[in-house]
Amino acid sequence: MSNDSIIQIVKSIYPNLDFIPLHEPRFVGNERKYVLDAIDSTFVSSVGAYVDQFESMMTKITQTQKAVAVVNGTSALQVALRLVGVNPGDEVITQALTFIATTNSILYNGASPIFIDVDYDTMGLSPKAVSDFLEEYCELREDVCYNKKTNKKISACLPMHTFGFPVNLSELINVCNKWKIPIVEDAAEAVGSEYNGVPVGGFGQVGVFSFNGNKIVTSGGGGAIVTNNLEIGKRAKHLTTTAKVPHPYEYIHDEIGYNFRMPNLNAALACAQLENLNEFVENKRNLANSYASYFKEKGIKFRTELPGSKSNYWLMCIELENKKERDNVLEFTNKNGVMTRPIWQLIYKSKFYSDFQKDSQRNASLLEDRIINIPSSVTK
Ligand SMILES: Cc1ncc(COP(=O)(O)O)c(C=O)c1O
Repeated sequence: MSNDSIIQIVKSIYPNLDFIPLHEPRFVGNERKYVLDAIDSTFVSSVGAYVDQFESMMTKITQTQKAVAVVNGTSALQVALRLVGVNPGDEVITQALTFIATTNSILYNGASPIFIDVDYDTMGLSPKAVSDFLEEYCELREDVCYNKKTNKKISACLPMHTFGFPVNLSELINVCNKWKIPIVEDAAEAVGSEYNGVPVGGFGQVGVFSFNGNKIVTSGGGGAIVTNNLEIGKRAKHLTTTAKVPHPYEYIHDEIGYNFRMPNLNAALACAQLENLNEFVENKRNLANSYASYFKEKGIKFRTELPGSKSNYWLMCIELENKKERDNVLEFTNKNGVMTRPIWQLIYKSKFYSDFQKDSQRNASLLEDRIINIPSSVTK
């Protein structure tokens, strides 16, 4: 029943294709022009006008004070945690229902994740579950949050806007303010999404985006760090450009930085793509409406944005009855030319994440068994 309905709607939206991918990029604007221009300029590598233009576009789009272009979303997350003061031996609160880059960035900093449940409706970190955890296990010592069980400092909270649906930011901010924990928003999937009319990414101390080829807009590979704190912004640029002290010819580095610069060639592609962001978001929102009314008629749950939030509908999702139905649909659709995929396996099920502290994971487990993504590319 679900199988035929899914195949039918997807094939009507993306006709004449033998295989319908989950999400493919659209290059319908100035992409060729800007990339060729970058080549002609000879500035194809780590400096160039398109890098500056990309950063300026991202500050406008996210309504933040500073954006820094980097090689991918994963490196952006790694640096973002360091920027808010995550040090080796610390702990970071995050969700287990996410892509592994979110939590790998914690390990890269020598810190440990604490896995807290998600809200059923947003599929992102639950402010109530975070608060319950903090009340039970933590205490403030001179305005620093410590986990009494491990005696470690909790130095960041890392929520993720799943598939472009914003987490409940206002409540999460209240909880984190009370416990003096900075927020890093993993908005890798959510460029163009809004919460209470404001773009996501600028709510926490630092926000992170991805421009990987599977995202709503792409630079081939790329990422961005955004912030409203100019000091943090300056340090973000410094750390991601090898921490070189500005000088016309000397090579002096004042700390251990990274070579995470986005090449100008990629920034050229990104600038052209960002010019189309609003149009792509509108296109996907229309597609979401079509899916929503179709699936409603068929009695299948299609995930829509919550009141007060605007989703970029990066990857559209349906919720099935149970894991058995999920597996059945995944097998049938993929065999029949329609690409679908399950939401991520909960991170702590990976062997190298199995020993970290976690709460009940009630909603995360339920969603893990039921949510699948269906083809979501921009339709023209
Ligand atoms: C939630 C999330 N975080 C981080 C990343 C990492 O971004 P990138 O692939 O650009 O490294 C991605 C996606 O790829 C993601 O979906």
